[in-house]
Amino acid sequence: MQLLTAILMVFFFAGCVQGEAESAKKVVQLHWYMHDTPLNGPNASSIPVTGYNASDFQNEAAHFLRGQIYLFDDPLTVGPSLTSASFGRSQGTYSFVSREEIVDYVSYTISIRTGKYNGSTLNILGASPNSRKIKEYSIVGGTGHFILSRGILREEVVNLFGPFNASATLSERATIYIG
Ligand SMILES: *[C@@H]1O[C@H](CO)[C@@H](O)[C@H](O)[C@H]1NC(C)=O
Ligand SMILES: *[C@@H]1O[C@H](CO)[C@@H](O)[C@H](O)[C@H]1NC(C)=O
Ligand SMILES: *[C@@H]1O[C@H](CO)[C@@H](O)[C@H](O)[C@H]1NC(C)=O
Ligand SMILES: *[C@@H]1O[C@H](CO)[C@@H](O)[C@H](O)[C@H]1NC(C)=O
Repeated sequence: MQLLTAILMVFFFAGCVQGEAESAKKVVQLHWYMHDTPLNGPNASSIPVTGYNASDFQNEAAHFLRGQIYLFDDPLTVGPSLTSASFGRSQGTYSFVSREEIVDYVSYTISIRTGKYNGSTLNILGASPNSRKIKEYSIVGGTGHFILSRGILREEVVNLFGPFNASATLSERATIYIG
């Protein structure tokens, strides 16, 4: 009986220690704007690396842009205007993958180049339908302040413009759990 009590106590305290470690995790909230301008000639921040077919943009419903893969290096700013203070760069790829609707699958790195987290990065991954007002992607890790971090990125379109409305200003809000 005493042995059982002792075993239960060990599990109880182990549970407490784990609980404390969970609650000790630091949460950081960050908000920035991303400016993606594909199809804008020499100044494009995103370039199609394969599958680009302008007719698909005129007839999106037919193919949902499926097969198009873009490589990008987008500026990030603190405010919604491209001319507001720089937050950093966003570099990686997005591709259109779905047979049912327009879905972009993203894989990219946010490099913060200002403020307290200057020099740190966050890695973003996931697929989300374009029809969602707020898209959600996983933050799967990072560097610098964000080593071994995890979190969620919520993205919302604040402006569409340019050829086929393919250019976008995106509001991105990150909730990051460090450690
Ligand atoms: C590209 O950027 C330069 C410098 O900002 C600007 O003068 C030029 O008009 C832009 N060209 C296009 C096609 O947007
Ligand atoms: C481009 O897209 C159009 C319309 O979606 C399609 O009819 C055409 O076959 C495509 N062209 C190529 C080369 O894939
Ligand atoms: C960010 O860090 C780099 C490298 O240390 C430095 O050159 C740059 O001035 C910093 N930027 C800001 C806005 O503090
Ligand atoms: C772009 O979107 C706006 C509304 O957001 C719409 O009025 C306009 O017709 C669209 N332009 C094109 C080329 O799709």
